[in-house]
Amino acid sequence: MGLFDQLSLLPPDPILGLTAAFNADPRKTKVNLSVGLFKTEELKTPILKSVKRAEALLLEEQHSKEYLSIEGDRGYIQQVGALVFGQPFWSRSSEQIVGVQTVGGTSALKIGGDLLKREIGKELYISEPTWPNHRGVFSHCGMRVQNYPYYDIKKNALDLDQLYSFLADLSAGSIVVLQPSCHNPTGADPSLAEWRKLSALFLEKRLIPFFDFAYQGFDEGVEQDAKAIRLFVQEGHEMFVATSHSKNFGLYAERVGALFIVTHSKLAAEKTLSQIKVAIRTNYSNPPLHGASIVYKILSTPSLRKEWEEELTGMRERIIKMRGLFTEALVAGSRNKEFRFLKERKGLFSFCGLTESQVDRIRSEDAIYMTGDGRINVAGLNRDNLDYVVKSILKNETR
Ligand SMILES: Cc1ncc(COP(=O)(O)O)c(C=O)c1O
Repeated sequence: MGLFDQLSLLPPDPILGLTAAFNADPRKTKVNLSVGLFKTEELKTPILKSVKRAEALLLEEQHSKEYLSIEGDRGYIQQVGALVFGQPFWSRSSEQIVGVQTVGGTSALKIGGDLLKREIGKELYISEPTWPNHRGVFSHCGMRVQNYPYYDIKKNALDLDQLYSFLADLSAGSIVVLQPSCHNPTGADPSLAEWRKLSALFLEKRLIPFFDFAYQGFDEGVEQDAKAIRLFVQEGHEMFVATSHSKNFGLYAERVGALFIVTHSKLAAEKTLSQIKVAIRTNYSNPPLHGASIVYKILSTPSLRKEWEEELTGMRERIIKMRGLFTEALVAGSRNKEFRFLKERKGLFSFCGLTESQVDRIRSEDAIYMTGDGRINVAGLNRDNLDYVVKSILKNETR
């Protein structure tokens, strides 16, 4: 018996495993609604024009690929800090905010989780449902990961009453992962008034917010989508924010993200940074250069920034348009189900209210791929496949 024969075979990743199955499916009519990528009407995920232009400039200007520092590029952190917290707050308070460049949003979660487990506490709560990797990442940090109620699948709506009463019972120092906009997988977000109520509860119960901000700009706009984070910092929370530029700059494979930790003093920030640097150094030593250089170049060059914002608006408008057409077609064709709620959802994703067996049947009969929980990516729809997908869902709604 070899050294590795004793290992158990683990199941494929619930999202990336589906893409592999989709790629292997020979049926011509297949549709991939499972993966978290923006798609154009042609169902492509092209490089943004602003990114291409920034890369051309970098090719001319960059003369070295020497290591970045452990915490990453300072210029990048300054730009992203202002993007997330808003320039006024960032200018006023950046001394007490730890900011580090990370390998996508995922490593921001991991580095933050490592610090929490080692120094602060290990009771961590994620929404039910959530992006499946939340449980994976935080449990690999050694956290005790539990669910909080968030979404009522029977009513197709947020269940904030249950959420408030659940949070009210948590012990002080519990860490709660929140998605500030475009909740993955439901697409259902609290309103500003509801965030206010949550902020008050977090302060009263001394809970620690950990915002996972992977879709800035995909709901209403860059500034508007940061409203929950900006509200929480205004109200004095010490908190974590993980950001990702995979989606809003289309830099998925470049692995660009950041982790911010808002503390109450410059000294606390210095101590926290020293700890975070050890977590980074022992994980991947220092972050990659290219993707962060692109984001820095775009955000710090007015003409590129304007072009990027227009491209982001284009992505957002396509998502909203497809969501609208999808909802209307389902509402028009459905005999016994209320699909109107879909129109209210935000960002790439929605639950469309299908059971796991309906999802399986739709995949095996019609080659339409969505995640087992019935999450669909509306950017995977276009004018050629929309009717086909809607017919398949309607055919299955009563089976
Ligand atoms: C909610 C959420 N958090 C974090 C991430 C991770 O982003 P990244 O690809 O930048 O690691 C994703 C990606 O799909 C996500 O949906």
